[in-house]
Amino acid sequence: MLDKNKNSSFQSLSLERAKELLIQGEVVGIPTETVYGLAAKISSDAAIRKIFSTKKRPFFDPLIVHVQSIEQAQTLTQDWPASAQNLAEAFWPGPLTLVLPKVPSLSDLITSGLPTVGLRMPRHPLTLELIQKVGEPLAAPSANLFGQTSPSKALHVFKEFHGEVPVLEGGDCEVGIESTIIKIHEDEVEIKITVLRAGHIRPQQIVDSLKPLNKSISLVQPGKNIEAPGQIKHHYMPSIPLVYISIGQWAQLDHAISQLNSRLQTPFKNLWTLPLNEAPEQAARELYGLLRDGSENRENDGILFVYNPEIQQGEAWEPLLDRLRRAASYCLTD
Ligand code: TXA
Ligand code: MG
Repeated sequence: MLDKNKNSSFQSLSLERAKELLIQGEVVGIPTETVYGLAAKISSDAAIRKIFSTKKRPFFDPLIVHVQSIEQAQTLTQDWPASAQNLAEAFWPGPLTLVLPKVPSLSDLITSGLPTVGLRMPRHPLTLELIQKVGEPLAAPSANLFGQTSPSKALHVFKEFHGEVPVLEGGDCEVGIESTIIKIHEDEVEIKITVLRAGHIRPQQIVDSLKPLNKSISLVQPGKNIEAPGQIKHHYMPSIPLVYISIGQWAQLDHAISQLNSRLQTPFKNLWTLPLNEAPEQAARELYGLLRDGSENRENDGILFVYNPEIQQGEAWEPLLDRLRRAASYCLTD
């Protein structure tokens, strides 16, 4: 039996060993600039199944395929419109996932039977080299159990799976939250972009990048309909309850806590306030580490996030606030 708290037993794989394991059809934790992924080669359904069983992820939740070049992405899509080329050139390698029609040969297990595939080229030199060495793209969801907080450090992955998943150490993730996911519809005159998941790359940057194509551009913000399962309300959950409260609702806090406690088997007493940095990029980088590390050894406590619109103001905060609202067990907003 492995000791969950024995951090010192974590040892990184070598790049060569990671390559061998992936070629043999094993799953491996890999670094990206957003969060760590749990990777398998796309040509083996058995390997892809291992991703789902390791994560305890339902098969209806499709995986993102990671490529090491634009050309490799093109081999997986039925249609590669000018807008995809434009966005890939502008933002790859980087935290933008493009959802496009898939080729029939790509396994339905990866796309959960959808006619589309989510593709991205991650910005981490080790992982780009790894994809090159394996010789094919890697499917990789975030390397956490389904519904839980994503890992932003190699050690998070090691602990999440109790040391049973080998991990390629690539340092702390630079961005810290998952990629922006967009679906592209393009015809002769119009480009329609649907934002399926907010992330570091903002909608306005996408629109600005597409302007030289001289087509009408329309942006559809994440709607009420769940198109991407990452939009499920309770996702990214830390292991202790998170209370999200707008500063304007502060007077209601005690009432909210007693409501929440009435739903918990073991009511919690202490609330630990999430010390989010005031700069959004730094806050994003630190968020998942704070949620994970802050939950450790605090089994009987809760985490409090106080939303202050005077500090957390503007588009750059949106992806973080979105993750916090989804992670919250109790949300009290104005
Ligand atoms: O930054 C990231 O995107 C990280 C790193 C590892 O690349 N990956 C990640 O994967 O966050 P995951 O599985 O945790 O979230 C991927 C989400 C799915 O939950 C689903 O919502 C969406 O991507 N997705 C994938 N393929 C899709 C498709 N064909 N259509 C719509 N949504 C899709
Ligand atoms: Mg995930």
